[in-house]
Amino acid sequence: MARSYHTNQVLSSPEPLIGSTYLTPTYRVDLRPTHTKDVFFDASPVSDWRTLSWKKIGRPYRVERWSKEKKQWEREHGQELPPQTSWEMFNRSFQQLFDADALASRKEALRSLGYELSHGDLHEAWEAVEEMVQATVWNKIHRIEDAVWDPRGKRALFEGLDVKKPEVLFLGAADGYEAMQLLAMYPGGHAVLVDYDDYCRTHRFGQFPAAYPFLGVNEATGAPAVWYREEMNIDFEVVDIRDLNYGREFDIVVSIGLIEHFPDEYKPLAFDMHRRFLKPGGYAIMTTPRLQLQSRLFYTLFADIMNFAYRELMDVTHLGLYAYENGFEILRHGRIKAHNGIITRAR
Ligand SMILES: C[S@@+](CC[C@H](N)C(=O)[O-])C[C@H]1O[C@@H](n2cnc3c(N)ncnc32)[C@H](O)[C@@H]1O
Repeated sequence: MARSYHTNQVLSSPEPLIGSTYLTPTYRVDLRPTHTKDVFFDASPVSDWRTLSWKKIGRPYRVERWSKEKKQWEREHGQELPPQTSWEMFNRSFQQLFDADALASRKEALRSLGYELSHGDLHEAWEAVEEMVQATVWNKIHRIEDAVWDPRGKRALFEGLDVKKPEVLFLGAADGYEAMQLLAMYPGGHAVLVDYDDYCRTHRFGQFPAAYPFLGVNEATGAPAVWYREEMNIDFEVVDIRDLNYGREFDIVVSIGLIEHFPDEYKPLAFDMHRRFLKPGGYAIMTTPRLQLQSRLFYTLFADIMNFAYRELMDVTHLGLYAYENGFEILRHGRIKAHNGIITRAR
């Protein structure tokens, strides 16, 4: 059962207060309402997707600065890193950022820099500088600005869906964050998270902080309410999304950062995965990382941690045009902090 209370209520329990925001060592809690001044879901208007063409908008940008670990694997094996292995490497490496106390990591890197400099080891000293910069940037992006989970952007993107107790299918679910946000906003539903990397079941989702509060609504009263992971009805399937065997049974099929990993020849397959299991009239929701200077800098600075698999950065018009060309009607489109987002239905 979700807990709900008013913003100005004085609480004796350590429950987070709706309307508040504060930092923990590894993430920000943000229970501020979605519609305040500095919020983000900024639907740049494309009124008729038929008028767009690839010639007009250009192609997405490909990130091609690869991680050292991927290059080393390929040298050792004399072949290209297979996609599933690349995701296994990615998930372990990316999750380390979420698990670390970024300020403590920065302190440790600074201490190590001092030590290496005093011992004249310039190579190690340079690595310490790199770690210091990464910890500083991750602290800013994830913890201070909350641009990765982006609860207010995601809530703005997900609001207004015509669903009750939805069945949600999350393709390439990783930590499952967005399914939890959806279940908080549309309570009483059920989500199936799908990822072929078992580490996502055991760690990324399995150890997602139980104390993280998701702002949603109280099912009975419709008032704002806080939900926690353990109050939600969620199953995790470790399987390749291409081998899923459901009928047309989901109200929502969602993916976050999946479409951009399919080169153009595989895009029809990727979109088909979002259509195949939808009930008639159901919603396919997709986001992809934005083509903006900050993102390009991020994937450069974090290349060793992030870049194991094919990845495109897109504008929202790229994502929308791919969806439109692949048979979807675009109901809403816009940009949140680090991603583009579209709400679609199969045409
Ligand atoms: C870029 S990640 C999604 C980003 C995610 N929001 C995060 O925080 O990391 C893509 C996820 O999809 C999974 N994945 C990719 N291809 C898949 C496939 N064919 N079947 C199942 N899972 C897949 C990967 O294992 C990975 O966890």
